[in-house]
Amino acid sequence: MRTTLKLILPLIISVVVVSLLFAAYQVRTERRILRNDISRRAEILAESLQETVEPQFDKQLPDKSLQRLVDRFGQREHLKGVAIYNANGIALAMTSGLASLFQLRPAAAAYAADRNIGYGEFLRVNDTPIHVYALPLHRNGQMVGTLALVHDVTYIDRQVAHTLRDSLVNALVQTLFIAGLALVLVRWTLTGPLTRTAKWLRTLRTGQSHAPPSLPEGELFDQLHHEVTHLARDLNAARATAEEEARLRDSNVSLWTAERLRVSLSNKLQNKPLFVIANREPYMHVHSNGSNGNVQVIVPASGLVTALEPVLLATDGTWIAHGSGNADREVVDAKDHLRVPPDHPSYTLRRVWLSAEEEKGYYEGFANEGIWPLCHIAHTRPIFRPEDWIAYQEVNRRFADAAIAEMEGTESPIVLVQDYHFALLPRMIKEARPDARVAIFWHIPWPNPEVFGICPWQRELIDGLLGADLIGFHIQSHCNNFLSTVDRAVEALTEWDRFSVNRQGHVTRVRPYPISVALQENGHSIKPLRSTKEEGAALCNELGISATLIGVGVDRVDYTKGILERFRAIELFFELYPSYQRRFTFIQIGAPSRTNIERYQNLLADVAADAERINARFQAGHWKPILFLQRHHSHEEIARFYHAASLCMVTSLHDGMNLVAKEFVSSREDNLGVLILSTFAGAALELTDALLVNPYDVQQLAGSIHRALNMPSDEQASRMQHMRSSVREHNVYRWAANLLSDLTDIRIDTPDRIESSETLSR
Ligand code: G6P
Repeated sequence: MRTTLKLILPLIISVVVVSLLFAAYQVRTERRILRNDISRRAEILAESLQETVEPQFDKQLPDKSLQRLVDRFGQREHLKGVAIYNANGIALAMTSGLASLFQLRPAAAAYAADRNIGYGEFLRVNDTPIHVYALPLHRNGQMVGTLALVHDVTYIDRQVAHTLRDSLVNALVQTLFIAGLALVLVRWTLTGPLTRTAKWLRTLRTGQSHAPPSLPEGELFDQLHHEVTHLARDLNAARATAEEEARLRDSNVSLWTAERLRVSLSNKLQNKPLFVIANREPYMHVHSNGSNGNVQVIVPASGLVTALEPVLLATDGTWIAHGSGNADREVVDAKDHLRVPPDHPSYTLRRVWLSAEEEKGYYEGFANEGIWPLCHIAHTRPIFRPEDWIAYQEVNRRFADAAIAEMEGTESPIVLVQDYHFALLPRMIKEARPDARVAIFWHIPWPNPEVFGICPWQRELIDGLLGADLIGFHIQSHCNNFLSTVDRAVEALTEWDRFSVNRQGHVTRVRPYPISVALQENGHSIKPLRSTKEEGAALCNELGISATLIGVGVDRVDYTKGILERFRAIELFFELYPSYQRRFTFIQIGAPSRTNIERYQNLLADVAADAERINARFQAGHWKPILFLQRHHSHEEIARFYHAASLCMVTSLHDGMNLVAKEFVSSREDNLGVLILSTFAGAALELTDALLVNPYDVQQLAGSIHRALNMPSDEQASRMQHMRSSVREHNVYRWAANLLSDLTDIRIDTPDRIESSETLSR
């Protein structure tokens, strides 16, 4: 209240002062007008009386006719009386009301006589305000006397007093109205939201977690909302970390947290920066409307981005990536650097530019039409074009040069290369910087040697990879396949007991590191405002569908994800269990991916057509069996779908890990919801409490949807709790910690020495 008063008091004072000045002005003007008016009236009256009185002076004086004249004239409105004086100022006649006061002519009459002019003045006689107007009387060119008209002007004071009162009332009403309005506005737009924000911050400070208050829109509040929300998140995260650390210390459990990773990496790296090279950048800048629209920041739909960001945040490293957004060049500095995340700049993004041809050959061609289908058993034939292979080598060289330039001045740098886009990079970097510790993490499966062997350049790829000190895969069987492939393809000593390869004296360790996410737990996230049911109803409302049960799928539209198989299973489910029609809707979030490649374009069209076909078969009123949302969704948007879903389907035909499965589990703090998970995704080895399915078996899939929708909530809770504790323990911080700790533990001063098992153990 005090703040509100402080804000509106100056306003009230200003309004009062202005109103009073205005009232005073009005009063003065009114008085002036009324006085002018009476003066003019007196003048006219006196002149007309003068004409009648002057001829009377020819007669013998005093004369009764003068008295009759003044008596007749004395009846006018406000006229107190009339008096006629001779040239010596002696009254010749006057109205009775003046008798006692004006026996001798008043000063005004003397003044008029002296100067021979009409003259009027305002005076107060016996406390009565009066106006006296005097006019000289003439006869035959001689001044023979004066005429005095006396008006009672009490009415002027009365009228002015009325005006003053009205103006003051007006001023009071205005002040009250403006003050009231200001009070409401200030409370509504300023102090109210600020008080709510303060209250919210207090609840956060005291350890309760609530959704942020709604603040009015506007630049200042948007900024405030933004900053305060971030502050609250950070505070919550810090508190949760501290609590978790304390709990861990207490229970002696060794869980990895962002903070522990930060501390551990700063010890391991001894403040040396970390260099990550990945094709996909963590933040893309794009024009929202063609080339002239506002620049918008997008976090690409990529498990790799989800997993690597916490590592970069923990180490303040440099992420070297292809600048693929159409506004990317507009936001970098002269060295093609940019500090990210935009809200919280904590590490450096270095963008590497590629021409359209390079992107076509290296990314679309060799990486995505060659290696991707080669490594995923999804029955799409790989295409190996010699020109793509040339582009792949050139772009690997380009990234190697960029990384080498970034590492200049850093002794024994730590380098983390990512994925199948850069198989040649480890050797290129190692040749230029033998002191660097280089690891590559292969985010997709590694097939058996027979399958890999169809690649015409398998030896070059393997040789490039073996330049690394450490190669990571998601699961052990990918490591096994890799070692078998090395055995068959190149000349090297594969040590199965130590899981390493010695090629020309250089040792490469091969290890499984199951990638993961950070589990959302109390305090890590602002608790959702709504229950699952309410969120589902809100989403259905926004999307214009009617359904009481929701299933969700979140994928890049990729043939390895088994989206068509999933849709067919949904179709069969509605055939087998018609009672779910009009109740259950499956929402497929499909981020269009690699759309310059024909196979992907066709798939996108097939998925959309299949959804339409199934919908046409079953849909009724506002209900439809499948809602295919064909666009990129942010993490925040996806979180709402996870929260609203009774089940989540991950039906990959083959997948290195699949982080959607882990994200769904991570987001279900309520321990509800069922995960249907393909046994061909790496995640199935850890999330054994999911309903594990063969995505090719449409009947089994349809049955699992039915089972999920009928699963009692205690069974859902026990399965979800198990899965959550698995994700909690094997989170992304552990992944990064294990990978980087193995890498930093490697001694590189004696490259031909295979490390003792002691050195290799974590
Ligand atoms: C897979 C790959 C990642 C890649 C992601 C998205 O998960 O392993 O390296 O970032 O797909 O694909 P994109 O081609 O859009 O980068």
